[in-house]
Amino acid sequence: MHRFTFRNNELYCEQVRVADVAERIPTPFYLYSYSTLVDHYRKLKNAFSPIKPLICFSIKSNSNLAVVRALVKNGAGVDIVSGGELYRARLAGTDPKKIVYAGVGKKSHEIAEALRYGIFFFNVESEDELDEIQRVAASLGRTANIALRINPDVIPKTHSYIATGKGETKFGLDFETVHRIFNNRWKYPNLKIRGVHIHIGSQILDAAPFEKAIRKVLDFIRANGIDIDYFNIGGGLGIIYSIEHPQTARSFAKKILPMLKRSGLKIILEPGRFISGNSGIFVTSVVYTKRTPRKKFVIVDGAMNDLIRPSLYEAYHKIIPVKVDATSSKTSERVDVVGPICESGDFLGKERFLPQVRRGDMLAVMGAGAYGFSMSSNYNSRPRSAEAMVMGKNLYIIRRRESYKDLIRGESIPKVLK
Ligand code: LLP
Repeated sequence: MHRFTFRNNELYCEQVRVADVAERIPTPFYLYSYSTLVDHYRKLKNAFSPIKPLICFSIKSNSNLAVVRALVKNGAGVDIVSGGELYRARLAGTDPKKIVYAGVGKKSHEIAEALRYGIFFFNVESEDELDEIQRVAASLGRTANIALRINPDVIPKTHSYIATGKGETKFGLDFETVHRIFNNRWKYPNLKIRGVHIHIGSQILDAAPFEKAIRKVLDFIRANGIDIDYFNIGGGLGIIYSIEHPQTARSFAKKILPMLKRSGLKIILEPGRFISGNSGIFVTSVVYTKRTPRKKFVIVDGAMNDLIRPSLYEAYHKIIPVKVDATSSKTSERVDVVGPICESGDFLGKERFLPQVRRGDMLAVMGAGAYGFSMSSNYNSRPRSAEAMVMGKNLYIIRRRESYKDLIRGESIPKVLK
């Protein structure tokens, strides 16, 4: 459940009218509900309470400092994939002992930064990487906790770009290699190989592929007498964008808790979208409408640079007017909601039924809290939008809209061209 609701035909975020937010910051902007964020985190925490897992919010889904801080303050750890995300996690005051670090291409300086901060686990994805962490740790006189990311070769039903647990993807290590590494642990004096990790994909709606992957890993550990204490089962829980029926935290826990309990291992979870997805919306205004012989277009001030999911994955996000004109007798019409960017792929929604909208009307793109702003760019030299967070009746601007100056930060013209 999220806290974006209609009252008197107007959309509210918690107790704040979305239209009032637009008085303070120009559209387009992202708007997050603090209580939805925390509530989703607690749902998972409560569902898994019998095993008290460490829940590391995957900040690639939403890395705004205030969002990360909100979850960290409520006890969450953080899943990172880059030095930049480590920097954010630190600024948000994350306890280093609650940071796990995945990714196939960690560079030496990133490894060193993470070692100096004393993160909890490196989730390692190749033997080369293991050698590199050993080298950097030795040079710094540190020891690193390692979880080996296993590619369990299961097929989750999701978009191929975000399915990571299939054998042919770049992620993780195959079982044979993992076995070999455990046998050769002595080669890594500065590494404590204490865990295994999986992350099979994202927006997965049912528990079956998770169960399968977890069972495969636990069977492998048991059969080979592998001595570890941690099992990171990744993220990937799907959410409702439209008509999906994803597993709830409770039903998911019910399916996998028995296996996890029996393993006796300490469990780590890395959800991103489950926590942030429905905690945010993207608000955009109608710039023009246009009818062609074939279609009607609603041209808005938000675009694929702001929210790339529809263009990249053909992802569906519900689009609704921020104000419903209850007196209007006009029926809804079929439109494409498109941005101002010079590509046909620049759309937020196609073939949508919307009540007739006019210039200046605002639309809310729902379920935009995960992989929304964090995947935004400056394409077409469009300043990235502002982000705001509501806590009850209070509104906080947590990122100002970029200026034209921000667009050219770091650029220079060589003297020879002047
Ligand atoms: N852990 C690891 C190692 C991951 O790679 C990811 C996401 C997560 C956890 C969190 O997954 P989640 O719980 O959010 O599904 N941009 C795509 C999603 C990419 C997911 C990448 N990895 C989208 O907009 O759908």
